Amino acid sequence: MSLAKQVAGCKAVDYVEDGMIVGLGTGSTANYFIDELASRIQSGQLKHIVAVATSQASFQRARQLGINVLPLDEVNSIDLLVDGADETLRTFTGIKGGGGALLHEKIVAQNSLKVIWIVDESKLVEQLGAFPLPVEVVQYGSWKLFRKFENAQMKPQFRKSGRDSLFITDSGNYIIDLNLGMIPSPDQVSFQLNNMVGVVEHGLFINYPDLIIVGDNQGEVSLIERD
Ligand code: 5RP
Repeated sequence: MSLAKQVAGCKAVDYVEDGMIVGLGTGSTANYFIDELASRIQSGQLKHIVAVATSQASFQRARQLGINVLPLDEVNSIDLLVDGADETLRTFTGIKGGGGALLHEKIVAQNSLKVIWIVDESKLVEQLGAFPLPVEVVQYGSWKLFRKFENAQMKPQFRKSGRDSLFITDSGNYIIDLNLGMIPSPDQVSFQLNNMVGVVEHGLFINYPDLIIVGDNQGEVSLIERD
């Protein structure tokens, strides 16, 4: 699986141009992108690259590799965001947040001129929902939300960090994963979640990427482009 992620991540660096402000996604596929970006900066192939990160993990990784990473509010717009996904349709809608960074990923995506998703072929699906849908919620009253999800048959689970403690996002919130099984209407689920007080953001990214780069285990990539 990692060859597929690696080729997708490395291919995305071909879309980075000198002088760009680049958004760094989160996760194992995005890490391949960050590593390759750093190596092209170190070799002098790319110059004057400024980055913003979608998570503390990506921030640390990029900084350690010598990439100039600035806080989001210190840049104007982002030229290109390259990020992973947990599931995606060919119609540019998917689920993100498996790594718990969905809120910052969506904020950076909304401030990016172009968004590329990099995925291995197993992430390309006909219907969303086999992957649990992450929902970031404020800590206060989160059990109340949990019960509401239970009552709506959404099969919620608090995201754990280790055996006993709950996962805390970079913004200090909890994540509740919804085991929906299938999501025939992402718009409807998004609308429902957006209207629940205490929900900060959810992992349905509707109509986000401009391009999806799919890697396979033979080391080939294919592109899903908009018309
Ligand atoms: C993190 C994400 C990741 O992009 C997503 O979970 C994919 O991760 P990976 O590349 O490790 O499979 O949304 O919040």
